[in-house]
Amino acid sequence: MSLACTDRGQGPPLLLLHGFPLDRTLWNAQIEPLAQTHRVLAPDLRGHGESPPSGDDYSMEALADDLLNFLDERKCPGPFALAGHSMGGYIALALAARCPERISHLMLIATRAAADSPEAAANRLRLAREAEQRNDITPVIEAFLPRLLGPTSQANSPNLIRDLRTMMNRTSLTAVVGCLRGMADRPDRTPLLKTLTMPSLVIAGAEDLIAPPTEGQSMSQALPHGQLTIIPDSGHLVSLEQPDLTTQTIIDFLSPTNPVSAS
Ligand code: MLT
Repeated sequence: MSLACTDRGQGPPLLLLHGFPLDRTLWNAQIEPLAQTHRVLAPDLRGHGESPPSGDDYSMEALADDLLNFLDERKCPGPFALAGHSMGGYIALALAARCPERISHLMLIATRAAADSPEAAANRLRLAREAEQRNDITPVIEAFLPRLLGPTSQANSPNLIRDLRTMMNRTSLTAVVGCLRGMADRPDRTPLLKTLTMPSLVIAGAEDLIAPPTEGQSMSQALPHGQLTIIPDSGHLVSLEQPDLTTQTIIDFLSPTNPVSAS
């Protein structure tokens, strides 16, 4: 299975992983600026955006395998910088568990290392069942949409809600159901963090309810070479809600003059 992708620029590869149930347009504002120094690879995950659904294993590990195959197809056998937003962060941590030596820089954006609580996992499984029974992803969109944007964006950027609904509607039912089950079943990656010695950046939205800044702070403290940036006036979708600040934060982190990245 081939993943649809945006592939821009030249230089060290930088893989951008979107969250659930979104697609690579999440990174639209970041791709061109980052492509000035890197080969930016922004795929649509299996069953999201323009990538077809495939099989029924949507565990974070299976999605990580898709990306290793994707990097092979794109002739990127060596190290790469990796940024994962939310579910993309869960997949980034599955990749970091699998092949830490390949990840030159790790960016965990609006995400968590911990597993779901039993209540959160049960809620995901209930939503997956409902979507499957109704043969419709609308219940999932309606459950996620109100929590994605922070109050500042909800007040100032009403168009974002419309754009997000359109983006979410591009996700296949199979992927929505599969990813809900995959996320409910994902392991606690907290013990992994202290073993990851690559330069690492955690980005959190100050108004994020899904991955609150306190979680970001704990992750950055657990990472041996971790940095934390909290993006003000942003909820869960920092790359859309505060695009310029998010882009600049990533550029600064990847810059060879950043002491953490140069180490
Ligand atoms: C995401 O943005 O990928 C999801 O909100 C993650 C989650 O539900 O845990």
